[in-house]
Amino acid sequence: MSESKKRIGILTSGGDCPGLNAVIRGAVRAASTMNWEVIGFLDGYEGLLSPVRYQVLDRQSTAGIMHLGGTILGTTNKGHFITKVGHGDKTGLDPAVIAQTKETMAGLGIECLICIGGDGSLSTAQQLFEAGVKTIGVPKTIDNDIDATAMTFGFDSAVACVVDALDRLHTTARSHKRVMVLEVMGRYAGWIALHGGLAGGADVILIPEIPFDYEVINQVLLAREAEGTFSSMVVVAEGAKPKDGDYFTRHIAGTHGETALGGAGEQVARSIAEGTGKETRSVVLGHLQRGGNPTALDRILGTRFGVAAVDLAVAGQFGSMVSYQNYLVGSVAMIDAISKIKRVKPESQMVQTCREVGISFGEA
Ligand code: F6P
Repeated sequence: MSESKKRIGILTSGGDCPGLNAVIRGAVRAASTMNWEVIGFLDGYEGLLSPVRYQVLDRQSTAGIMHLGGTILGTTNKGHFITKVGHGDKTGLDPAVIAQTKETMAGLGIECLICIGGDGSLSTAQQLFEAGVKTIGVPKTIDNDIDATAMTFGFDSAVACVVDALDRLHTTARSHKRVMVLEVMGRYAGWIALHGGLAGGADVILIPEIPFDYEVINQVLLAREAEGTFSSMVVVAEGAKPKDGDYFTRHIAGTHGETALGGAGEQVARSIAEGTGKETRSVVLGHLQRGGNPTALDRILGTRFGVAAVDLAVAGQFGSMVSYQNYLVGSVAMIDAISKIKRVKPESQMVQTCREVGISFGEA
């Protein structure tokens, strides 16, 4: 590494998603075009702490990675930099962690840190910024639930995975005259279920933003049967919940009592089988939605986000987050993106479109 060049740090934090490597590659190429150097910290923010772990990134070391899922830098979901402890609960960063971060950056001569992450990781970036660390955020998540950006990379790849699953489930459902229930990810937002369900030809889509009624779902499926359609497809967001009910959660194996969203699909399938008498099967798509190669759209969006993050760094616009609006990549204040998550609006055009093609949201 040359002593004279300015340096940018970059890291990927939180759950992985397709397109992370496209962001890294885009940032490294843009930086090299501007004669800046890039240091990639390993395993998310954790790489900033002693023993400091990083890799010098250049055009050679990031060649041939754009099409790969995951992240070449590794990531950490929970660790010393956690600022969100649950649904909406926030906590402050340990001052010792902030001090070590500043020390590492000063030691390596790093001007600013590009933090690629979801709302929790961006909250960390914001807290570091408020503590005097120059950070720039890049919104990442398959859930598409980050506010102040129309879209995050990774979402399109996850939706493509849902559609592929539904295409496969349609043929077996039709052969057996069955109801297939597909549970998809998305946390407390229904974007993946909504877009995947519409593109995959679902008959019922259950999302967190529209509490559902078990009986209404049964009536919809029985009405289809009465009309002569004997197989049906139900997409259930993991965060879907019944009216007057709560989120479905499950224990995470290998932890001491930690829970995560899950089980909605199985419960809905059970209720359908009992309420309609139809043979019903449920499938949990799970982490297949997070793995694999990014779609063309996510490669392009990721590259554009990486380049834009470097542009912000060079322009000294710290505390900002790359944002995608009206087909253009710009920026917003990071604080505006993390104050709340972006959820599906029940009155939105997308939901209305679904209703008009006959998709039920299971509401009374
Ligand atoms: O936020 C991305 C996401 O895949 C959610 O859709 C899902 O609820 C969660 O992460 C799963 O997290 P983990 O990989 O820790 O099981």
